Amino acid sequence: MAKARSVFFCQNCGFESSKWMGQCPGCREWNTFAEEPKMITKKATAGAARRETAQPLALSQIEMSTTTRMSTGIGELDRVLGGGIVQGSLVLVGGDPGIGKSTLLLQVCRNLSQAGKRVLYISGEESLQQIRMRAQRMGEFTDQLMILCETNLEDIREAITKTAPEIVIIDSIQTMYNEDVTSAPGSVSQVRESTGVLLQIAKGMNISIFIVGHVTKEGVVAGPRVLEHMVDTVLYFEGDRHAAYRVLRGVKNRFGSTNEIGVFEMRESGLAEVPNPSEYMLEGKPEGASGSVVACTMEGTRPVLLEVQALVCKTNLAFPRRTAAGTDLNRVNLLMAVLEKRAGLGLSSCDAYVNIAGGIRMNEPALDLGIILAIASSMKDQPIDEKTIAFGEVGLSGEVRSVSMAEQRVREAKRLGFDTVILPEACKRQAARVKEIRLVGVKNVREAIRAIV
Ligand SMILES: Nc1ncnc2c1ncn2[C@@H]1O[C@H](COP(=O)(O)OP(=O)(O)OP(=O)(O)O)[C@@H](O)[C@H]1O
Ligand SMILES: [Mg+2]
Repeated sequence: MAKARSVFFCQNCGFESSKWMGQCPGCREWNTFAEEPKMITKKATAGAARRETAQPLALSQIEMSTTTRMSTGIGELDRVLGGGIVQGSLVLVGGDPGIGKSTLLLQVCRNLSQAGKRVLYISGEESLQQIRMRAQRMGEFTDQLMILCETNLEDIREAITKTAPEIVIIDSIQTMYNEDVTSAPGSVSQVRESTGVLLQIAKGMNISIFIVGHVTKEGVVAGPRVLEHMVDTVLYFEGDRHAAYRVLRGVKNRFGSTNEIGVFEMRESGLAEVPNPSEYMLEGKPEGASGSVVACTMEGTRPVLLEVQALVCKTNLAFPRRTAAGTDLNRVNLLMAVLEKRAGLGLSSCDAYVNIAGGIRMNEPALDLGIILAIASSMKDQPIDEKTIAFGEVGLSGEVRSVSMAEQRVREAKRLGFDTVILPEACKRQAARVKEIRLVGVKNVREAIRAIV
């Protein structure tokens, strides 16, 4: 028997070290190392993985199995998954506590079971009564959905073999444990080994498995970062817990694109889809106020209009205060420097606060022009016409550069009743295919500012 030694794992990112360290070299977090026994018996994993020896094959010899995708019955989720659940895939759903992971997956269970699929929901966190209570809020369920409260992976494997479901939900991976691993549930080695077991089940029995993973900043439980490369698809559920909407973002997807998002709203009856995020994001936009402009960003193939707000005021400090909510502060600082140098605005003696209204985080360069105009409008105390939107990337010499998919952006603006679009001159030709909307092409920030006054 091998001598049991211990190793140290960063509980945040899974960095492995033979010594304890104060700061993790992998993720730069402090105080995240925890000691775990090294000896992981490979008995279970290695034994189960031993199949008959595989022969190398030429690509053309491999049979194409038609990848069957199952619709989850939730359009926004299907879009993020790349068109539905792929049979035999392992999907990780991460997110902050209370954001709605269990709710979303229970809804998926309901839809799939109503479509006649056998679904097994395994919870290690909540009692059967709690799940029942949540289900009560959501409406009708069929008996095709089975619920199991269990944390031991061997028992779970047995239950799966016995019930032969097509979809399994594991809520959450941090509560699961494998008897062969001696460390506590939620530790890096447990999480990693448990996911390994689930991976075998998914691929071996051709079952799609959804795994819920918690993300904690403090690193008390192992974040799902360590398993991101083990699974096929990683989805993150994000959003402001104080706002009702939630954004589901694909971070990795072996079966589809990762730049699509799904937008949901938390209601008492569960998560409702928001098919038109633009309308949602622009709700409550102030009228006739300076420092506010509507910008357009692309989320995958979908244009999303949102409001950029800026507040610029004289500072009393030696170092003016600058903050950015919902976008990158460095980008805002850079854009303010561009405004100072290229448009002659005296911003160095001003505090500036920039906010993407609605609490959503957006970093697309096409937002630059919106941020520039919001700052300029607040600085000059000059409101921008409410029916105007702006998009374009701004370069260091103050030039407004073209962005992709200008036509789609203009179309979305028109659909929502806007009548003027300030856009890069270079995009104007492409965007001119959309009729009955005024296009103002600008080459640099000076021209853009002139367009709003
Ligand atoms: N009656 C209700 N009406 C409206 N929203 C509710 C109601 N009950 C719960 N919620 C919402 O559901 C959220 C909890 O959802 P859920 O349990 O699915 O989250 P979770 O991501 O699974 O959390 P955890 O990390 O604790 O497992 C709450 O934060 C709240 O916003
Ligand atoms: Mg939950």
